[in-house]
Amino acid sequence: NLGIAITGSGSAVPATFLDNHALTEVVETSDEWITTRTGIRQRRLAKASETITELATAASEQAIAMAGISPQDLDLIVLATSSPDDLFGSACHIQGQLGATKAVAFDITAACSGFVFGLVTAAQYIRTGVYQNVLLVGADFLSRWVDWQDRGTCVLFGDGAGAVVIQANQKDYLLGFELRSDGTQNNCLNLAYAAEPTQLTQQVNVGKGNFQPITMNGKEVYRFAVQKVPEVIDKALFRANLSVDQIDWLLLHQANQRILDAVAQRLNIPEHKVISNLANYGNTSAASIPLALDEAVRQGKIKTGDIIVTSGFGAGLTWGAAIFQW
Ligand code: ACO
Repeated sequence: NLGIAITGSGSAVPATFLDNHALTEVVETSDEWITTRTGIRQRRLAKASETITELATAASEQAIAMAGISPQDLDLIVLATSSPDDLFGSACHIQGQLGATKAVAFDITAACSGFVFGLVTAAQYIRTGVYQNVLLVGADFLSRWVDWQDRGTCVLFGDGAGAVVIQANQKDYLLGFELRSDGTQNNCLNLAYAAEPTQLTQQVNVGKGNFQPITMNGKEVYRFAVQKVPEVIDKALFRANLSVDQIDWLLLHQANQRILDAVAQRLNIPEHKVISNLANYGNTSAASIPLALDEAVRQGKIKTGDIIVTSGFGAGLTWGAAIFQW
């Protein structure tokens, strides 16, 4: 009884949206540039008073309801985020809000790969027989960390949260996975600590807590994604003993429509099998996969028994693929 099944999904986004036309009031850009280069038409943005915890909790409540369990059944809560409300972690706050009294909770950081890394992490706890009911949340508010003067990055990101419930199951619905990291390319995409010395005594100086806004080498990240994502999906397919035509849905991290198209083309996956919602949300980082998954499930696109290939990729650099059956 050491298989796993995803038994529920949920999602939540801030009410405020900013379309490409409105963005032209912020930076010198155009709807035409953003749409043709990225496929993004609008993004949701969290107000200063909104928190990752409240959005993640709303998404989690939906996933828990769909799974037909109660928060007290949860053994583990994993929050994938790079933008927690609290640098000490936000998973425990979500646990408290849900009233998931039995669950141990912690954050993991793997940027836009966070959901896939979290899925594999959750699966290990279940497969070793330690835990039965796991809540995995992907949530990010990157709008707080972009430089709103930098048109090369600020047009790309949006805020959101998505969640899934993963449960121990007789049949194993996680069919294969592969995770990768390459720290030698770390400087392609960063949300880095900004060293600002504070002289404590004549001998001792320490850094002041501060971060630089997101910096990105867009061309390098694009090249990396288009090359590495098909590779890692091929590897996961091999581990799952599946061929590419057995796949019902390609559900990639929603970074850029051109990346989605190029990966699908390299893998020979037809357009109608590619799930895309980035026109409405932009790149929501760790939230993008569970957000798109939940939408497709609730729209009735993804049906029981469908085989889904998912892949996250981003800062680290990190990337990975997981294949599961719904
Ligand atoms: N509006 C108008 N013009 C712009 C904008 C904008 N928003 N941004 C850049 N430009 C201009 C540039 O200044 C440049 O002008 P120049 O030729 O006069 O110098 C021109 O457009 C081309 O800029 P490039 O950066 O070369 O554009 P490119 O074709 O590479 O597209 C993009 C940029 C869309 C960012 C692309 O590189 C990309 O999608 N990269 C992947 C990024 C990504 O997905 N990152 C997230 C990864 S996931 C994570 O972990 C966060």
